Formats: sequence, C-alpha cells, structure tokens
Amino acid sequence: MAVAAKLKNRLNDLDGRQWLYWTDTLYITSYPPDATHQLRKQHGAMKPPEVMAEIITFFTKKGELVLDPFAGVGGTLLGAALVGRPCVGFELNPRWVEIYETIKREFVLAEGAFCRRSQAKDTGQAINGQMYQGDCLALLKEVPSETVAAVITDPPYGINHGAGGFREETNFNMTDSYQSEDLGQAPDLESFLLRLQEIGREIWRVLQPLRYLVMLVGDRYQQGEYIPLGFMVAEAMRQIGFKFKGIRIWSNKATRRRLKPYAVKSVFVPNITHQNVLILRKE
Ligand SMILES: C[S@@+](CC[C@H](N)C(=O)[O-])C[C@H]1O[C@@H](n2cnc3c(N)ncnc32)[C@H](O)[C@@H]1O
Repeated sequence: MAVAAKLKNRLNDLDGRQWLYWTDTLYITSYPPDATHQLRKQHGAMKPPEVMAEIITFFTKKGELVLDPFAGVGGTLLGAALVGRPCVGFELNPRWVEIYETIKREFVLAEGAFCRRSQAKDTGQAINGQMYQGDCLALLKEVPSETVAAVITDPPYGINHGAGGFREETNFNMTDSYQSEDLGQAPDLESFLLRLQEIGREIWRVLQPLRYLVMLVGDRYQQGEYIPLGFMVAEAMRQIGFKFKGIRIWSNKATRRRLKPYAVKSVFVPNITHQNVLILRKE
C-alpha cells in the first residue's frame, strides 16, 4: 500500500482503497429508478445513470471525454453528467434521441441527482452531454484519432434473430428506414460480431493509447442452449487488437425482475439476472 500511495494515478481520481473496491468481479448495485426513469423506460434496455457514473468514475478523470456509440436514451451521457465528464453519444433511432433531448430540456442536475427544471432552485445545472442521431460507424469516422479517454457502451445484442428478434428489447419498428444499420437486426450471430468488429476498429482509432473500452453485454439462453455472448463479444474485440483485461458480473438488485419458472422439475434453465461488464484496453 505504501508503494501504491506513491504511484501517480494516470487513470482516475480514486484513492487506493476505492480502486481496490472496484476490482471485485462481483458487482451488485441497488439503484432504484431515478426521476428520468419514467421517460427512459420506453426504451426497455436502458441502464441506470448511477451505474454508468460509477463505471465512468473508474475509467476517467474529471473532465475527460467519454463516448457511447450505442447511446439509447442516454444512460451513459446522464451518468457522465452526474460525475462531471463531458460525453458524446451516437444513436441510430431518432425516437431515443428525442427522449434524451426531452430529458435535457426538462431536467437539471441539483445536489447530485436529476430533478425537474420546474422543481429545482436556481442552483440546478444543465445536462450537457451531446447526442447525435445516426449510424455509429459513420459518425465514429468523423471523430479525430486518439481524442477519447473512454468508450463506455451497451451494444444491442443481435443474437435473437428472426421473427420477434431484437424488437422486444428496443421497440424496433420494421418500417423504419434505418433497419439495415441497426446492429440489433444483424441476420445472424456471425454478421453481428463482424459488424461489431468493424465498429470496434473505429473505437480503437478514436481511443487514446492505454485507455479502456467498456461494454455491457448480457448472455442469452436460446433454443435450449446457453449463449455466452459476453465472452463472444470480448473475443471479437480481442481479435481486432484490444486486450481483454477482465469482467465484472453486474446485477442491479433494485430493478431485477422476478425469477421465471422455466422448465421447473425438468431441465436446468438459468434465469439470467446479470450482465457482463467487459473491460478491454488499447495496449
Ligand atoms: C442496448 S441499447 C443502449 C441503451 C443505453 N445504454 C441506455 O441507457 O439507454 C443499444 C442501442 O444501440 C442502438 N443502435 C443499434 N445499431 C446502431 C448503430 N449502427 N449506430 C448507433 N446506434 C445503434 C439501438 O437503437 C439501441 O438504442
């Protein structure tokens, strides 16, 4: 600990004890829905801003730029706002961008939490994170190389293909014209991973050296088999050059759904209540 105390911390603003706490591979949080949840829950796959804030706090210093290429309704952008990091998000579906813009218009940050602008006293602070609508692959190409301190994201899991597919999770509308760019609509697992690698190469380019790509990915159970999607995504990123540094098994107790009685007294079927937080580094 004496040696650790002398080391200059190049990654974040945490002290040694806080750093150590964060290395536990089991990551249980208990954040109840916040004031913006009512708007954000239309998405169905949104993440609690407080959890994103914790992740951002570990992988950046105050003021450093965070990027989320699959921004949804803004879990990462709102998390970044909570801890004073500038953040840019890309999102394909205009509906989700609009919800984030509504949150920006109607909410402010006051005493470390979001509250309605109308209820805040003069001390309320505007939410600054900028979200751009479009395909992240195209938008990433406009980001200058090595300008981003951390990419923290939650890609769609394009694995449940065919009828019904990913629509359940994103309220995807088949008539939308951006259908082909939606990673969640990849025709099969292989094309999903190949496309993610293409995006991953751009992420590699925009990331500063020795900094981190953090991805939240849920595993799947499909047609009688467990699909370790988290590990598959980590391996896909490893193949394009990222070092796979580790994983945290995350579960938010406060919003966890009830266990469903799949095949009880017949076959083991897991209730997947966790997500994998994949930690990858450009080195
Ligand atoms: C799992 S959600 C992210 C949710 C987000 N973390 C939140 O808190 O709201 C993944 C998002 O990626 C978006 N997406 C899919 N393909 C995309 C692409 N090519 N470019 C940008 N966004 C895309 C989907 O529309 C979806 O909203």
